[in-house]
Amino acid sequence: MFVDTHCHFEKQYYDDFENVINNAKESGVNLLIACGCSKSANTEAIDVANTHENIFATIGYHPDQAFIVTDEELIKLEKQLSNKKVVGIGEIGLDYHYDGFDKSKQFELFEKQLQLAEKYNLPVVIHSRDAVQDTIDILKKYHVKGVIHSFSGSYEVAKIYLDMGFKLGINGVVTFKNCNLKDTLIKLSPTDIVLETDSPYMTPHPYRGEKNESKNIVIIAKFLTNLFNISMEELAEITRKNVSNIFDI
Ligand code: NI
Repeated sequence: MFVDTHCHFEKQYYDDFENVINNAKESGVNLLIACGCSKSANTEAIDVANTHENIFATIGYHPDQAFIVTDEELIKLEKQLSNKKVVGIGEIGLDYHYDGFDKSKQFELFEKQLQLAEKYNLPVVIHSRDAVQDTIDILKKYHVKGVIHSFSGSYEVAKIYLDMGFKLGINGVVTFKNCNLKDTLIKLSPTDIVLETDSPYMTPHPYRGEKNESKNIVIIAKFLTNLFNISMEELAEITRKNVSNIFDI
């Protein structure tokens, strides 16, 4: 049994959630964590988790919301954390990829949510793009653990995050032909990672260009079994344990 630790269940992406959930089940992906990133996405993630036994939710405000999020919305987020199906805060973090970002605004939003994670002892799902050093520096100020979502960095950076108690979220990016992530992972262990699709994004090779779904966890898993030279059953068991190590599921 596999877990998709990071998928986006939003109506704007999928006409039929049940279809996506059934396809996942049929592929052996039995547990899903719906990830929120905005006000509406957080509500949708909670809704799908509330109505499906095998789905949990993480909620939070993505750095691209840094200009938008109000104090009231953060108060609402804090209230939503008491929902039993909410198992973490995310995705939250820093993103310097696109022009027009404001570092200080992103720091403020990120740290307010890290404070909530500490207060409620919840794991965090970290989005960090082109912002490795600032992400590490800020995370070091807090006693939190969690997942580094869509990890694609070097071995040295991986070690820093692992030493801080994080697992690395590995998705379809690892299967891309031009991706060096496998060179990092080969030096690590399956105990260091959790699997995620980041669906509808990050569709694994050879389906790039199509809409991603949780069922494609098995494509990522197959790739990793070759890399780590272990069986699908072993990878499923190890990564399932890693999920329990982070999330109270
Ligand atoms: Ni995501």
